[in-house]
Amino acid sequence: MDSLFKIKNEVLNCKKCSLYKERVKNGFYPVIGEGNHKAKIIFVGEAPGFNEARTSHPFCGAAGKILGQLLKSVAIERKEVYITNILKDRPANNRVPKPEEIKACGPYLDRQIKIIKPKIVCTLGNYSTKYIFKKYGLEDEIQGISKIHGKIFSAFGKDGQFNGVKIIPLYHPAVVVYNQNMKQALEKDFKILEKFK
Ligand code: URA
Repeated sequence: MDSLFKIKNEVLNCKKCSLYKERVKNGFYPVIGEGNHKAKIIFVGEAPGFNEARTSHPFCGAAGKILGQLLKSVAIERKEVYITNILKDRPANNRVPKPEEIKACGPYLDRQIKIIKPKIVCTLGNYSTKYIFKKYGLEDEIQGISKIHGKIFSAFGKDGQFNGVKIIPLYHPAVVVYNQNMKQALEKDFKILEKFK
């Protein structure tokens, strides 16, 4: 039977894409994910940054501080939710994920979601939104994050296999690091989560 423990051990030794070379060279860790293993809400970011790869904790740097504030604004504790990324290893210089890296690493996320069975999947930014929309048969709805952030999508899949799981695309919290004005938009979108707590 699959388990988060099994996934963790596989990711720790993963060499499925070239990102592992940077991990080994720099003494970094893969960032597997953290939080409630039975979470109702899961957040999916893009990839670990420097602080995350140094510590193995997702969203523990500047973007993580913003995510923490946003969760607090709707009285959700970090430990109630599960937080992970599409890529488990850090791309050098925080570059965006390459398609082959998403292809190699995505199945770990798929397995994590299958085990946790969240009712709400919050995607953070364009990359995770695109990945999750495809996974849940919502490819026709894919648009840039500035068009679809804060909307609630229900996924059923061809045979109803997704059971109406809600997908909520959100801006990536890192946008606030570069533009403080974006915080209001994110706070407004996070309010949606109050009704799903
Ligand atoms: N950005 C992400 O997408 N994920 C992290 O874990 C940290 C920053």
